[in-house]
Amino acid sequence: MAKITAGVATSHIPAIGAALDLGKTQEAYWAPVFRGYEFSRRWMRDAEPDVVILVYNDHATAFSLDIIPTFAIGCAASFTPADEGWGPRPVPVVEGHPELASHIAQSVIQQDFDLTIVNKMDVDHGLTVPLSLLCGQPAAWPCKVIPFAVNVVAYPPPSGNRCYQFGKAIRRAVDSFDEDLNVHIWGTGGMSHQLQGPRAGLINKEFDLRFLDGLKNDPESIARVPHIDYLRHAGSEGIELVMWLVMRGALDAQVREVHRFYHVPASNTAVGHVILENLRSPSPRQARRFLVERPRETITNTTPSTGSPLRPPMRQQHYGFCRTSPRPRWDLKNSYAGRRRGFLRADFLPLCLRCRSVADC
Ligand code: DHB
Ligand code: FE
Repeated sequence: MAKITAGVATSHIPAIGAALDLGKTQEAYWAPVFRGYEFSRRWMRDAEPDVVILVYNDHATAFSLDIIPTFAIGCAASFTPADEGWGPRPVPVVEGHPELASHIAQSVIQQDFDLTIVNKMDVDHGLTVPLSLLCGQPAAWPCKVIPFAVNVVAYPPPSGNRCYQFGKAIRRAVDSFDEDLNVHIWGTGGMSHQLQGPRAGLINKEFDLRFLDGLKNDPESIARVPHIDYLRHAGSEGIELVMWLVMRGALDAQVREVHRFYHVPASNTAVGHVILENLRSPSPRQARRFLVERPRETITNTTPSTGSPLRPPMRQQHYGFCRTSPRPRWDLKNSYAGRRRGFLRADFLPLCLRCRSVADC
């Protein structure tokens, strides 16, 4: 089954893309920004998502004021980086996952969440800058991406709670997709910023830090923050933060924050970035340390997290069987962390294909 294992939130400032593309990452102004993502690029390489559901807002690139979908999902096989006025960024074409995207559309619409299906669109900095920050400058993006666009550009944007509940619907959709996929969900935009009017340049560090804490520990309360509070405290473009709530809604109630970065300024915004993992998923580092350091003889009788005896099926050499289904559930060679990197050998403990956990589930 497909499984959402982690969520990422990050600002999507277009000037960051320009700094990368023009080789300015070591300049005094930009170096601290890119340092904040060094861990994230390593984490991304280790986590190896098959698919990223990338929640972002289109900045009048694919959608003009003629048509403004509140929520839209990209079901195409590929998405071309848009020309936003200075030519398209020199980044790879974004490969989609039409099967999972179509499944999500069908599932959430049948859960009573309206969603616009988009079969052709270009993608702007809202989507490509986060990819650059987490993946660097590869010849091809390392995973498939499902663009999920939220209207935060024209009034009325969806409420934080609507976004949070939408995330939960996406989670249910992914959980019911019958292919073994390691799925991440990213929320982009924010943090506090205002690009126009007398308050242009507004940054509110206190609001941002409270938001970061609440996002991890008390998302239900954060989801109840009304539009007017974003506007008052985080500036007119601070409303982009509701997109982070789609990401958070798709994760478990309890999550592990593996990375946080906050920096002011970058262009006109406060840069905010967190990586949250579902607790039942081992962090890539945990999994690798465990897998590399402990030979099979030691681990067949204990679970890594609790030390409790493993159930008999897990003693099987290459795979185990789910209690409720006769399908092989444990597969050492094909576990997601080891599949492409080769560090996972057949005589080490597997990750569960269904829950991505190294523990018994
Ligand atoms: C800026 C930030 C944004 O989120 C955006 O979409 C466009 C511009 C800025 O800081 O300049
Ligand atoms: Fe933006």
